[in-house]
Amino acid sequence: MIQPDSYVRSLLKRSAGETVTARGWVKTRRDSKNVHFIQLNDGSSPVDLQVVLDAGVVPEQEVAKITTGACLSVEGELVASPGKGQSVELKARAITIHGIADPEHYPLQKKKHTLETLREMGHLRTRSNTFGAVFRVRHALAGAIHKFFQDRGFMYVHTPVISSSDAEGAGSMFQVTSLDLEAGKPADFTQDFFGRRTYLTVSGQLEAEIFALAFANVYTFGPTFRAENSNTPRHLAEFYMIEPEMAFCDLKDNQDLAEAFLKSQIEQVLAACRPDLEFLNKWYDPELIKTLEALAGATFERMTYTEAIGHLEKSGKNFEFPIHWGVDLQSEHERYLTEELVKRPVIVTDYPKEIKAFYMRANDDGKTVAAMDVLVPRIGEIIGGSQREERGDLLLDRIQAHGMSEQPYWWYLDLRRFGGVAHAGFGMGFERMMMYLTGMKNIRDVIPFPRTPGNAEF
Ligand code: 4AD
Ligand code: MG
Repeated sequence: MIQPDSYVRSLLKRSAGETVTARGWVKTRRDSKNVHFIQLNDGSSPVDLQVVLDAGVVPEQEVAKITTGACLSVEGELVASPGKGQSVELKARAITIHGIADPEHYPLQKKKHTLETLREMGHLRTRSNTFGAVFRVRHALAGAIHKFFQDRGFMYVHTPVISSSDAEGAGSMFQVTSLDLEAGKPADFTQDFFGRRTYLTVSGQLEAEIFALAFANVYTFGPTFRAENSNTPRHLAEFYMIEPEMAFCDLKDNQDLAEAFLKSQIEQVLAACRPDLEFLNKWYDPELIKTLEALAGATFERMTYTEAIGHLEKSGKNFEFPIHWGVDLQSEHERYLTEELVKRPVIVTDYPKEIKAFYMRANDDGKTVAAMDVLVPRIGEIIGGSQREERGDLLLDRIQAHGMSEQPYWWYLDLRRFGGVAHAGFGMGFERMMMYLTGMKNIRDVIPFPRTPGNAEF
């Protein structure tokens, strides 16, 4: 096992003169007269450790096995590096080759591969510079999210992956069953594992509300599943969602928290992953760091859905989906509002009740609900949330108006009878945030193993 002081990241910070062992995988080997240069990395650093191997230290037939992708341990002395980019390099005294990677077959050669090609190599793309940067950012982002909430006293709650209710009332769920379903044979779900129909959850919100009404401020961070057949660069069938839920909270507080949350994530990741973000800025989005810094300092615009429709109607744009009061905002509309109209993040609130989920709190106008979507440039919707309907009779009306059966929601209705209070929350798609932070344009390139229609390899 690699000890903390022996990661490549740590070795690069140690002093010349120390004797160390470095372990990792070969990025490249370059030969010049009497000396070989090996770029070695264990995934801990955007900068490789340069290993200098003098001719004769290991037999030439062994050197020939040190090719891109091979796994090595290198023992030697750290010496001051004349090259730029690192202060020390490793002068090798002995090398152990743990695993070769035959250059005839190893697909990840030095030449630049397209992201599509790398996607076909889910088992190896993790060793590329690009995915090294992406997954280090992902790791840092997860830590930043926990830090944000825990610094504010929020409790982390695990909500179930297997669920018997449809939290979004949208019906695009994967069914979970242990029955042997044969085509054409009617299934009796009372005989199924849980004695009823169950699904992979689309959201942990309803259970998070239970916790918010006991622990006040809570958040979830877990996998969620949507069976909608949307083959877009922004949709996954399996993705991670962060869902804070707060008692004693209205839509205004909810918006303030969402804004502070997004800014904090960006500030923390800018501080923790600067070299990785610079790499992504250089190769994938020349505006990346500029955009992130701008967002961290921006005040988010806030407007109602009705105002947003007004702006869209006045825009003079020829949208693919025509716009009028009552329609749901499509990606093209969201992007117009955030990218062209206000040129920074915008929070749209108070949507028509017909296009939003049953649990959102009815506004006094009888037409809209206390919903909010946070839209950011390049992505569109990154957060969706609302104040929840805490009035039991109105909640029941909404369940019925949505044509849903109230039985599975008995406990959700009960929470309105026993110690109910105004409460609100939101959900942030972790991978949408990752796209925003890394500049990656396809959501499949920010999750380790993407699940999309027709694709569950690896
Ligand atoms: O807007 P959504 O559907 O909201 C909810 O699920 C609420 N229960 C959240 C809450 O109030 N607690 O989803 C929330 C966010 C979206 O804004 C988007 O960022 C992300 O989840 N999201 C997806 N990300 C990737 N692939 C998909 N198929 C996604 N669907 C939603
Ligand atoms: Mg939404």
